[in-house]
Amino acid sequence: MQHPQNTTIIGLQWGDEGKGKMVDRLAENADMIVRFQGGHNAGHTLVVEGITYKLNLLPSGIVRPDKKTALGHGVVLDLWALEKEMATLSAAGISITPDRFMIAENTSLIMPWHRVQDQNRERGLGDKKIGTTGRGIGPAYEDRVGRRAFRAGDLLDQQDLKARLGEFSDQVDDFAAFCEDMMRFTKTLSPHIVPLWHVLSEGQRNGEKVLFEGAQGFYLDVDFGTYPFVTSSNTLASQAATGTGLPASAVGHVLGVVKAYTTRVGSGPFPTELGDATGEHLGAKGHEFGTVTGRKRRCGWLDGVLLKQACTINGIHALALTKLDVLDELPTINVAVAYQKAGVTYTHLPLHWRDFSGVSVVYETLPGWQSVTEGLQDYDALPANAKAYIAYIERLTGVPVTYISTGPGREETIVR
Ligand code: IMP
Repeated sequence: MQHPQNTTIIGLQWGDEGKGKMVDRLAENADMIVRFQGGHNAGHTLVVEGITYKLNLLPSGIVRPDKKTALGHGVVLDLWALEKEMATLSAAGISITPDRFMIAENTSLIMPWHRVQDQNRERGLGDKKIGTTGRGIGPAYEDRVGRRAFRAGDLLDQQDLKARLGEFSDQVDDFAAFCEDMMRFTKTLSPHIVPLWHVLSEGQRNGEKVLFEGAQGFYLDVDFGTYPFVTSSNTLASQAATGTGLPASAVGHVLGVVKAYTTRVGSGPFPTELGDATGEHLGAKGHEFGTVTGRKRRCGWLDGVLLKQACTINGIHALALTKLDVLDELPTINVAVAYQKAGVTYTHLPLHWRDFSGVSVVYETLPGWQSVTEGLQDYDALPANAKAYIAYIERLTGVPVTYISTGPGREETIVR
């Protein structure tokens, strides 16, 4: 079967590239929006008609009343976080009925003890800590591959679930309250739990367009990222198939979202990081604070080495360049094109974080445009040097930039 109608959106840096806005925009032409990895460590901010929605778990398409959404089994699901997010959105007038929001039956659950394990491990690592979101993501994935996870479909058999929960009475402070919550979920969430592979494949047969919504970013991928300073899932584009049950051919058009500069939350090497006034400026103008943890994001120049590698491994068809307007005031703009360390020049990500740490960066310097691009919706209205920056990125990656985001609002976007 051909699936030319599907689109996969992923971030090409360390997350926070502005995927939520792109997903929201492209959701207009999709029938179903599906998440395929990560959990409530993600934070997507959407601004729709002046209202700001902050989502951690529910697919961004949920704010569009005529769309279906789903969580694929590649996600790890915290039922308490889901309940809370559903309640907040319902209070804001968004309907989250089972026909509009589905959960794959084979999705692994994040249990309260995973959060405790996550936070304890981080404390134990001291200054080598990963800087996780502390939400139990890693330990939940460990239990999945350890073949001992609770899965969403387990909510469908109350008796069996009750019996299994009994084995965990020493893992939570208030076991009675925990069991009560789990029994409530069996009632409230069961209608949402489906064999998602089947629902999706039926949809494909009927010509439905799926938009796969990535979370985190490519350099947080557990295999290809800046290991061990990564998340515990595969964030790359092909995970859209692996994490949902559609075949590899269903990934469709792959749109890579890249911020015009780089940010990172959490620990780990970041060669183009700016510890100076320019870094402060990017953080302040770009409102670079984590949606999930409120942490200040580290800011730096665009890393062309990483971007090129991300485009290759993910088979990126087109780029969405976000937050271009944040660069408006800068007289010059740098892009990393190589790293050097101990006499070695790298034009790719070194395998070991120790080699990646403390590299000196070879930059190419481009002229800034020092005029306002904020809110522009017309490519021709961009200053010549902004167009030159975009053309430079296209030359560097060999991939066309088809969207340019010039502000947080749905409309503040240039389409080419
Ligand atoms: P974890 O996913 O909570 O295990 O955290 C692992 C690493 O991924 C940490 O550096 C986090 O800051 C980072 N991380 C996880 N989710 C996101 C995200 O949505 N945006 C940016 N960084 C993230």
